[in-house]
Amino acid sequence: MERQIYIFDTTLRDGEQVPGAKLNKKQKLEIAKQLERLNVDVIEAGFPCSSPGDLEAVKAVAREIKNCVVCGLARAVKQDIDICWEAVKEAKHPRIHVFLGSSDIHVQKKLRKDKETALQMAVDSVRYAKSLCPEVEYSTEDASRSDFDYLCRVIRAVIKEGASIINIPDTVGYAVPDEFAALIRKIKENVPELDNVTLSVHCHNDLGLAVANSLAAIREGAEQVECTVNGIGERAGNASMEEIVMALKTRSSKFGVDTRINTREIYRTSRLVSRIMNIPVQPNKAIVGSNAFAHSSGIHQDGILKDRSTYEIIRPEDVGIKQHSIILTARSGRAALRHRLEELGYELEKDVFERVYQRFLNVADRKKEIRSEDLISIVEVEMTKVPETYSFVNLQILSGNDITPMASVTLSRDGEKYTDASIGNGPVNAAFRSIERIIGKSGKLLDFDLKAVTHGKDALGEAMVRVEIEDNVYSGTGTSPDIIEASVRAYLNAFNRYFANNH
Ligand code: KIV
Ligand code: ZN
Repeated sequence: MERQIYIFDTTLRDGEQVPGAKLNKKQKLEIAKQLERLNVDVIEAGFPCSSPGDLEAVKAVAREIKNCVVCGLARAVKQDIDICWEAVKEAKHPRIHVFLGSSDIHVQKKLRKDKETALQMAVDSVRYAKSLCPEVEYSTEDASRSDFDYLCRVIRAVIKEGASIINIPDTVGYAVPDEFAALIRKIKENVPELDNVTLSVHCHNDLGLAVANSLAAIREGAEQVECTVNGIGERAGNASMEEIVMALKTRSSKFGVDTRINTREIYRTSRLVSRIMNIPVQPNKAIVGSNAFAHSSGIHQDGILKDRSTYEIIRPEDVGIKQHSIILTARSGRAALRHRLEELGYELEKDVFERVYQRFLNVADRKKEIRSEDLISIVEVEMTKVPETYSFVNLQILSGNDITPMASVTLSRDGEKYTDASIGNGPVNAAFRSIERIIGKSGKLLDFDLKAVTHGKDALGEAMVRVEIEDNVYSGTGTSPDIIEASVRAYLNAFNRYFANNH
C-alpha cells in the first residue's frame, strides 16, 4: 500500500494573511465546507487570538466540519493557546498548532530572547496545549535558517512534551530543493523520536520553489504538507495545494505516495477561493489557470485531436473541468439547469437556485451558450452574495475615443428606484461615480481585475474589485457578458458588503 501524505490546508490562515483577503465567518464556513468536500486532512481555520471575529469564525468551522481535523494557530504563550482551544474544542478532531521562531534571527531579533529562554517557552507552551487538546502540532518557525543542533534540541524537547506533529517551515522561502531535502533527511537521522510523530513541511514561495521544496521533502519521508488553494499566502504565497496533489498523482510511480484528495473538486475549490478572497488566478497558473488546458498552437491542436496524450499529462476532468454534451441556452429550463448544477456538484437551497436561474436567463439572453465555467461563475456570485442594500437595475453608457464618457446607473433600494449620472475619465469610472452619487458614499478603488471566464468573443466577463470605504477594505465580484456591467455589479457588491458590515 502506498504511503499516505496528509494535506494540511492553511488557506483560511496563511492564505488569509494576504492583504485585503480577510474573511468573515460566513465566508470561512463556505470555504471550509468546500475543503471538506475536497477531502483535505486538516483545515487550519485561523489564528483565533488575532481578533474576536476570527475566534468566532474558527469556532463555527470547528462545529460544522466533521471529516477533517480542525486546527487553530497559537503563538507559544498561554493566552493564545487558551483562545485557540476555546476556538477548536468543539471540533470532532481538534488540533492546536503552536509556533515559535527557532532561527537566531527570529529568536534574537524578533523575540529578543536568548535561545534557552525560547526553548523553555516552546516546552511550556506544548505542555500546556497538550493539557487541553489531545493533538498538538509544533512549528519551528524559520527552520530552514536555524542552527541545526538547536533545531533538533527544540524538536526533541517538544516531542517529549507531547507534540505529535512536528512542522519544519521554510518561512521565508529561502531553501532550494536539494538543500531542503537534505535538511529533512538530517533531522530524521538525528531525531529518532520522530519515528512516532508526523513530520510536516510548510514552504513559502519567495523564490518560486515552494512546491519543489515540498515534493523534495516528501521524497525524504515528510508525511504532511502544508499548502493553500491557488498557492495564496504571505508575500509570494505558500505551496500550492493543487500543484502538490497533481504532481503526486501524475507522477505516482516516482513518488510512491497517495493523498485522500478528491481531485475532481480542485477546480471548483480554486474558483471559490479566488472569488471569495478576491484574488484572481493567473491565466498560466498550473492546474487551475484558465490556460492550463488550452492548446493554441496549430501543431499542438493537431496532436491533441489525434491523441490527447500527445500534449496533455492531466485530463481536465480529473481536476473537475468537465466537458458536457448538452449545451445550455436561454431555452433550457429549470430541470436542465438543475441537472447540470448537480453534475457540477452544487446542491443549492431553493432561493439560491431561483436566483441562479434568473441570472442564468439574463446572461443566456445575451450569450448564445452557457458553459460550465460560466455557470460556476454565476453560481458562486449568487452563493456568496451578501444581502443587497442596493440592487442593480440598469446601466447606460455613452463613450468613445473623442468624447467625455458618461454613465447613467439605476439602482433600487426597498423597492424604490434611484437613477443618477456622471462623467468620468472612462466609462467604468463614470459608472462607479454614478453609483457613489446614488449611495451618497465614496470609495477608493484599490484593485480592479477584469477577465473573461471562457474563451470566445461572447465570453462572460468577470470583474473583481477591492474598495476602501471608511478605512476598511471590501471586495466585490460581478459577472456579465458586458464588462462594464460586470464592473458595476462588482463595485456595488463591495458597497453592499460595507452596508452588511455596518448595519
Ligand atoms: O511560515 C511559517 O513559518 C508559518 C508558521 C506559523 C507555520 O506560517
Ligand atoms: Zn507560513
